[in-house]
Amino acid sequence: MSDATLLADPAPSLPAVGRPTDDRTGGGLALRGLTKSLGGRDVVAGIDLDVAKGELVSLLGPSGCGKTTTLRMVAGFLPVDAGTVTMGGADVTDLGPERRPSAMVFQNYALWPHMTVTQNVAFPLRTRRVSKAETRRRVHEALELVGLTHHATSKPTAISGGEQQRVALARAIVQEPDVLLLDEPLSNLDAKLRVSVRDEIRRIQQRLGITTVIVTHDQDEALSVSDRIAVMHDGRIEQVASPTDLYARPSTRFVASFIGATSRVAGAFLAGVVAPSTDGDEVLVRPEEVVLTDDGPVRATVSRVLMRGHFAELVLHAGDAELRAFVTGPPPAVGTETGVRLGAVLVYRDGVLVEAGR
Ligand SMILES: Nc1ncnc2c1ncn2[C@@H]1O[C@H](COP(=O)(O)OP(=O)(O)O)[C@@H](O)[C@H]1O
Ligand SMILES: [Mg+2]
Repeated sequence: MSDATLLADPAPSLPAVGRPTDDRTGGGLALRGLTKSLGGRDVVAGIDLDVAKGELVSLLGPSGCGKTTTLRMVAGFLPVDAGTVTMGGADVTDLGPERRPSAMVFQNYALWPHMTVTQNVAFPLRTRRVSKAETRRRVHEALELVGLTHHATSKPTAISGGEQQRVALARAIVQEPDVLLLDEPLSNLDAKLRVSVRDEIRRIQQRLGITTVIVTHDQDEALSVSDRIAVMHDGRIEQVASPTDLYARPSTRFVASFIGATSRVAGAFLAGVVAPSTDGDEVLVRPEEVVLTDDGPVRATVSRVLMRGHFAELVLHAGDAELRAFVTGPPPAVGTETGVRLGAVLVYRDGVLVEAGR
């Protein structure tokens, strides 16, 4: 479900149970004014976020911005200083983790080394007094879902990092949670494995339709798996948007610098900008919007060529000013003189987006 549908239709079809609700999530997850002070500092400073039922939202931000602290409050492992957590339309703010309809996958997996894969996955059901037959069925289903039935009797130390991550995921899924919370689920995996486990998490999440929050500092990860991304900075959310919108219209200077590459357009290159800008505005451009063309309004010299695989990154100079450009096909040689035209630019005034377009 898209943000637009959520906001346009404040879920009038929701059953009128319990508290009158500002729950626009259709039974998903809603955070209001979530706040936590640690070490005398507001580590989480008033987080508002709606995650629709079945939606996957990433909490994306640099290390230390408060992502894990937020997720632990959502899961119930850390009490809030202020604010509320609502799941499925019910306020769970004062409930412990085991009484919330959520399951969390921790960054370090936290598997029991002395237990088999099966025993690890079954563990949360033991404490919930689920029958033996039901446990057997659900554990088998969860292992099947993550493709690990062949490791049912292995110990965690005998399987790879990617497999351990999938065990941790199975242990969360076996609880049949309404809300799945994952803290940096891919950070311990090598680059190739990261992509395959990432795709697998998305596939399982969509198949089961679980409302999901993934915490990550990796923009590629967030851009590729999320319905929407919430960008965090210093304990606050700066922007919540779909990956496409976030990339095209980063609402703050911080978001623009955190998502994708940008160059600051200055000096001679400003002549190539058609968007109006006033003194003090900061103009940014994505490398793919820097177009090399003979009839471009700015003359520049190619000063470096970095091969990046299926494209090359060029460093261009016009006088003191520098720009980065992406080109596909054979790149021009260092020293080549070229015309440059700028496509869409992003204009920021006091750090806030005032213009995005051509
Ligand atoms: N128990 C604690 N006491 C004091 N400061 C803490 C504590 N836990 C976390 N912090 C600080 O809070 C900030 C946010 O931490 P965290 O939520 O783990 O960030 P992230 O997950 O985004 O990297 C960091 O600066 C961290 O050092
Ligand atoms: Mg963290």
